[in-house]
Amino acid sequence: MNITIDRTSRIPIYLQIVRQLRALILAGTLPAGTKLPPERRLARAIGVNRSTVLNAYSELKADALVESHVGRGTMVLPLASSPEVEDAGRNPEWRQFFRSETGYSRDPLIRDLLEMIERPDVVSLALGLPAPELVPLAAIQELLDRLLGEMGASLLLHCPTEGISPLRDVLSQWLCRRGIRCSPAEVLILSGSQQGLDLAARVFLSAGDEVVVEEPTYLGALQVFRSAGVRLVGIPMDDQGMRTDLLARILERRRPKLIYTLPTFQNPSGTVMGPERRAHLLRLAEEYNVPILEDDPYSELSYDAPPPDSLTAMDTGRRVMYLSTFSKILFPGLRVGWLVAPRAVIRQFALVKQSIDLHTNTPGQWLMERFLSRELVTPHLARVREAYRRRRDVMEETLLESPPPGFTWRKPAGGFYFWCRCPEAVERTPLFSHAVEQKVTFLPGWACFNDEPEATFIRLNFSYPQPEEIRTGIRRLMRVIAEVADQNWPVHRREAGTLPIV
Ligand SMILES: Cc1ncc(COP(=O)(O)O)c(C=O)c1O
Repeated sequence: MNITIDRTSRIPIYLQIVRQLRALILAGTLPAGTKLPPERRLARAIGVNRSTVLNAYSELKADALVESHVGRGTMVLPLASSPEVEDAGRNPEWRQFFRSETGYSRDPLIRDLLEMIERPDVVSLALGLPAPELVPLAAIQELLDRLLGEMGASLLLHCPTEGISPLRDVLSQWLCRRGIRCSPAEVLILSGSQQGLDLAARVFLSAGDEVVVEEPTYLGALQVFRSAGVRLVGIPMDDQGMRTDLLARILERRRPKLIYTLPTFQNPSGTVMGPERRAHLLRLAEEYNVPILEDDPYSELSYDAPPPDSLTAMDTGRRVMYLSTFSKILFPGLRVGWLVAPRAVIRQFALVKQSIDLHTNTPGQWLMERFLSRELVTPHLARVREAYRRRRDVMEETLLESPPPGFTWRKPAGGFYFWCRCPEAVERTPLFSHAVEQKVTFLPGWACFNDEPEATFIRLNFSYPQPEEIRTGIRRLMRVIAEVADQNWPVHRREAGTLPIV
């Protein structure tokens, strides 16, 4: 296979690679089943960065000309008669028209992990999803039937950008029970709390601004902040949450525009910030006049003692904005989350939201309004807490069976995850590839760090798999870790780990 690069051409190098490979595939010179060279090897051979080859392969994958599998590499697919494939040679390469430097990650990690969830033979401990079998389907069906009967087509019409008033009312009452006192006007309904992160970036941040995050933190927040071109200042954590003593030192010298924190059952580490730390964080925000975005999807999911009051409940200076969602306690597909903040913030967020999606989906909001106002949420939460507590305990029992030497973890008091540290000899890429070969997945810890982590960490989810799957998955994973940690683990298997994660 001969690929030539013309560095004087105005055509981007990855497109030059795409065009030549595409031509070879469409001409049958590379027939179905042909294995393309590993990215690293092709990059070395033609003198380009590995990411350039990665981009080229992604393009070919998007055209359904190739597919990748861990352990098998990137293979040419049979030429299907789908219009996309038929058009592949004739279409312009659309990527050339895209805005450059959008900052959006091309890392296919999350998409690939989601794809693997569909595979029945793979135990997924990777994503943070609620258990589908715990969704109260009968109640939802009844609520929807009634809503349609009562409201007819108006259930499906537009609503205000800020959200339907009855949901804002009932949410403000429900939050009051959590110690968060707010009026309905201080609640903005969002299309998932992910949208709140995106809006916060648009409202508060310009490229080059600094944002404080915990290290590690929620992967989706890192992606949003990176897309906004901000500089992230990662603050290490200990078992009491963000090290506010270190934050204090940062604030003496720098002026971040925002502090993003997950104080309760943190994603990914499961940590709960202690009350004193919370108070210290609030004092610092006040002293240095920095707003805080508190992200709190998990605090209803406590399995031992109830967590401390949220920062928002403790805040007297009105510097904390509170983000939460129904995605973890009920289901994520409805895309209903909310922000609590002073009215000036709600107004600004709503202005920006209007230009993005006009408003959050109307039937989803009505459904959640009824779910809360009919008091269905309390028994539901009791049920899921019980089920998740059991799954958490099953995960810990299985971890305790035969952990490889040097493998440690933190048992969470709530939320969805165990945060684990692998033995020193375990490198992240061969670990992930071998785990996928052995049909178990996890979230690689590096994805949750802004800076390079000091060790190989992994995040294990226990809410989605059923207890028996947890046992199977953890036993497989412990074997995989022990094998990869073994000094005799063959070098060529480490090399195989450089294949893309698909
Ligand atoms: C900490 C955190 N924030 C926000 C989100 C996004 O949730 P939603 O489905 O409401 O957009 C998640 C989902 O994993 C999360 O873990």
